Amino acid sequence: MTEAATAIAHPNIALIKYWGKADERLMIPAVDSLSMTLDVFPTTTTVRLTPGAGTDTVLLDGRPADGETTKRVATFLDLLRERSNRPAPAVVDTRNTVPTGAGLASSASGFAALAVAGAAAFGLDLDRTELSRLARRGSVSAARSVIAGWAICHRGTGAFAEPLPVSGIDPAMVIVVLNAGAKAISSRGAMRRTTETSPLYQAWAESSRVDLAEMRAALDSGDLDRVGEIAERNALGMHATMLAARPAVRYLAPATLTVLDRVLQLRGAGVPAYATMDAGPNVKVLCRSADAQTVAEALRATAPGCPIVTARCGPAARLAAER
Ligand code: PMV
Repeated sequence: MTEAATAIAHPNIALIKYWGKADERLMIPAVDSLSMTLDVFPTTTTVRLTPGAGTDTVLLDGRPADGETTKRVATFLDLLRERSNRPAPAVVDTRNTVPTGAGLASSASGFAALAVAGAAAFGLDLDRTELSRLARRGSVSAARSVIAGWAICHRGTGAFAEPLPVSGIDPAMVIVVLNAGAKAISSRGAMRRTTETSPLYQAWAESSRVDLAEMRAALDSGDLDRVGEIAERNALGMHATMLAARPAVRYLAPATLTVLDRVLQLRGAGVPAYATMDAGPNVKVLCRSADAQTVAEALRATAPGCPIVTARCGPAARLAAER
């Protein structure tokens, strides 16, 4: 008998960032985060149980994954084996449409898709909260991709993401892909170094609580400018903690700063646009949906030759097929 399931998940972009773990083994975030799941760059993952095989096999875009990725996925599958009481190895076949490891949230869509497909393949009937908690064990940001649109992920033991009802704003996220290559240091390593050595980390984590409260109020009142202002300061603060780490972690490139200048100019010209950056040089610009084309054109002129993708709120991770 072959048990297999396929799931699709989209990346999400945090406007209040998760950076730093309270427990690395259990993947407990040290701070709350708030995000928007996108409608671009889906990951499709199939998990097939292979009871006769000796080990797990992980295919990334059709090719065998490297040792580290395979180990990370196998450790995640152990959670499913334990919970379902089925010791079977599995083949995991995952296809990304977003460049992997470039700070474009491939681990969020990847582990969200793996959680949903894996739970089904191992015969586990989990609700959204349990799926979110499970996805978090692969990558904390993945807990949020289990949720459609706006999500809030709580810090602390048993952390999971839940939907955040938002109406009254019609946002777009214009993504400038400055460099699609894999990052020099993984977010996991960079986070550890930041929390262990950066004198700015605690101050940012505390100010992030204020940012979250103010962000929720801004979302409630449908104030996209305020949402953008808070998102931008929260992201720049997170990068400041990394710059102060020893040795420094610097994901921002010269081209990132050029785009940030352009975003400021757009605001000066009356177009509300606000930037956020993750563990990579790429910039995601939050704006009104109606302004997305203007913003995309301005950024195309600023970053010639770089792919520019406009995203809007996207769906929750979901099962595509179950056999
Ligand atoms: O993808 P993870 O769970 O290793 O964490 C990445 C964290 C940031 O993308 C930088 C911020 C966030 O909250 O997504």
